Amino acid sequence: MAPIERTERGSGRDLGPSRIELTRGDITREPVDAIVNAANSSLMGGGGVDGAIHRAGGRAILDECRRIVDAQGPLPAGEAVITSGGLLPARRVIHTVGPRWRGGGHGEAATLASCYRKSLALAAREGLSSVAFPSISTGAYGFPVDEASVVALEAVAGALRAGSPVRLVRFVLFSDADLDVYRRALDALAG
Ligand code: APR
Repeated sequence: MAPIERTERGSGRDLGPSRIELTRGDITREPVDAIVNAANSSLMGGGGVDGAIHRAGGRAILDECRRIVDAQGPLPAGEAVITSGGLLPARRVIHTVGPRWRGGGHGEAATLASCYRKSLALAAREGLSSVAFPSISTGAYGFPVDEASVVALEAVAGALRAGSPVRLVRFVLFSDADLDVYRRALDALAG
């Protein structure tokens, strides 16, 4: 995938003192305070963005994940925990577990919203001011990206409007098609 100019391809929206940005790219290369990982409950890595983050971030992240699971057990869907960023340009990684899509009638949207809200709450508690998210649940977990983009942006906008100290939330989409879907959802965001 060719590198892209953020100014050319990206877009954004200011919400008071904070900003939501959309861009296409590889989240492992984002030089933000924290990137968010779309993990599974084991926190032991996997494919997709989870595999990419562990490959690029190195062993230290996996060791910290193991200690977290040893201490508190598997991470339930909708929850979030934080580790260091290992070898990544990001200082920290927030690991959250999205819902598996089961047709939409099993609380998937609420669980997905919780991923975004709890990740931002954790970033705020840790004093972090820039956070990059992938499109949680829309790969292996099968959540339709049209619906997921609306849930994601409403959850993030809600947290920023409610006074989150996080100043930059960047969605890093892996394809032009996903970027377009998120762009439409951002344009349609109320207020
Ligand atoms: N940067 C940004 N986005 C990426 C990257 C990357 N390097 N790699 C993949 N993606 C995108 C995918 O294209 C998809 O749009 O992240 C989105 C989420 O897809 P998945 O990584 O499959 O995550 P999810 O649907 O939440 O499924 C989680 O996948 O491998 C696992 O361990 C993980 O079991 C868990 C499941």
